[in-house]
Amino acid sequence: MASDEEVVGTVKDQLAKLFEESLRVTVPDQTDTDPLIAACNPRFGDYQCNNAMSLWTKIKGTGSAFTGPQPVGQAIMTNLPRSEMIESCSIAGPGFVNVKLSRQWIAKSIQKMLIKGIETWSPKLRVKRAVVDFSSPNIAKEMHVGHLRSTIIGDTLARMLEFSNVEVLRRNHVGDWGTQFGMLIEFLFEKFPNMEVVSDQAIGDLEAFYKASKQRFDSDPGFKERAQQAVVSLQGGQEKYRKAWSQICEISRKGYEKVYQRLGIVLEEKGESFYNPYIPGVLEELAKKGLIEESEGARVIFIEGKKYPFIVVKSDGGFNYASTDLTALWYRLNEEKAEWMIYVTDVGQREHFEMLFTAAKRAGWLPPGDNSYPKANHVGFGLVLGEDGKRFRTRSTEVVKLVDLLDEAKSRCKAALVERGKAEQWTEEELEQTAEAVGYGAVKYADLKNNRLTNYTFNFDQMLNDQGNTAVYLLYAHARICSIIRKSGKDVEELKKTGALVLEHPNERALGLHLLQFAEIVEEACTNLLPNVLCEYLYNLSGHFTTFYTNCQLRIMVNLVVNVLWGQRRRQADSCCVKRLQRSCGNAFIY
Ligand code: ARG
Repeated sequence: MASDEEVVGTVKDQLAKLFEESLRVTVPDQTDTDPLIAACNPRFGDYQCNNAMSLWTKIKGTGSAFTGPQPVGQAIMTNLPRSEMIESCSIAGPGFVNVKLSRQWIAKSIQKMLIKGIETWSPKLRVKRAVVDFSSPNIAKEMHVGHLRSTIIGDTLARMLEFSNVEVLRRNHVGDWGTQFGMLIEFLFEKFPNMEVVSDQAIGDLEAFYKASKQRFDSDPGFKERAQQAVVSLQGGQEKYRKAWSQICEISRKGYEKVYQRLGIVLEEKGESFYNPYIPGVLEELAKKGLIEESEGARVIFIEGKKYPFIVVKSDGGFNYASTDLTALWYRLNEEKAEWMIYVTDVGQREHFEMLFTAAKRAGWLPPGDNSYPKANHVGFGLVLGEDGKRFRTRSTEVVKLVDLLDEAKSRCKAALVERGKAEQWTEEELEQTAEAVGYGAVKYADLKNNRLTNYTFNFDQMLNDQGNTAVYLLYAHARICSIIRKSGKDVEELKKTGALVLEHPNERALGLHLLQFAEIVEEACTNLLPNVLCEYLYNLSGHFTTFYTNCQLRIMVNLVVNVLWGQRRRQADSCCVKRLQRSCGNAFIY
């Protein structure tokens, strides 16, 4: 993580600083005006300042000398302090100030970024610490594709926030508490009377036991009663029950940790049971604030505009998903001092989170409105669909298991590599590693590239295609760039420091500017909690690179030859042939 002084800020931030000064001079009595900077249509420039219109509506009729938005825009442009950042400005429409950045500044900034590291360009968000609650599978149940989406989206959000200098508490809110454990434990006790000595392997298929116990619970009143009693014993802390519960959790944990390992995901488990001891205190606080009412034997919070109340204590006196989430929110705010709480689950849980956040606002834990901190957001996502357009299922209509998907992605990649003759060229380990990187990457990217709210169709052929907007294409572009660098025979680390970067050709400039915009894209993706914004950026980056490389390649080749023949740097090469090519093709990033 870059330290605070080191962070330069986004291009937008840097431009905003200039416009801030200009606005201060242009309309001295409008001090609270934030510069409105946005990327603009490349025909007009790179960025645009859109303050003239709103300023004009503020000052109109106040005796100002300005006669309309256009002159305000003109003045904003004239008052802009001199800066090496800007090549030229122009006015368009009702006073928009278009800015074209100087290519020398772009080049210099990239050079700085290369030397100091991309982190120094990371955006600065207004929060210091955030909780990202993601993945969160349920004990004794298999992780399914819904959890896959939560895991992938949540991890990406966490990574983007971390890049933006936010400390992220990655929380796995596993479903490890509740009445279903009574049922399961009772069933296992029947099956394995000496459960402590039974190996994990014997009770390994927890999901099957879970289903069987549910069946017994629904059909056998005697069992039902014993299961309910088991819940009381477990919640009362009886050792035998506690032990069985821990054993069950541990078996599940081992299963999903394997998935995290495969996907390179780090998470800290603080499951539902963690918050259980704090629930009574939190509910008491809410009751004191007058939020909790009795309704049909249950204790509830009525939420305006909602058909049903938010039930926080069930009619049997037990706590539930809602009471746990209220407590977790309280804990994250007060004990963990998080300013932003982000919950990644399917859109089906939207209502639950709306009620949760409204209750927290009414309790005064969160400010009203959605624009100030501390703040809570539900990051919902759509369904994963099968080829038939229906919910993704296997042939046996079971929910699809996550591990099976990852296995298939990997094996398909491996087969493709073998078909290309890689088995003869690579070691088995290389083959495995590549198949994993490409296969898992493809699954992740296929999920992330869509707006998370839309349903998406799971299709191996599509996601493993090496053309189009896929991870395979992006990885290929990356590998290709690495190979170009390798073949150039240049010491890249040395080049970063000594090679002066010149951006002459329009494609070079476009690529350079796009690279500099990375930070503001991450900022946008974080602010709106939309990873697809970053995917789009990366896909366009590959496009910019390909265009640049195709159109400027000749120049690159000549540079290579010149370098080899004369051992000189491009700048010193004076052959007239090189000069002619230089004029037509511009200079290259990578000599
Ligand atoms: N375990 C829940 C499920 O599988 C997701 C939990 C999400 N996080 C939360 N704080 N409610 O649906």
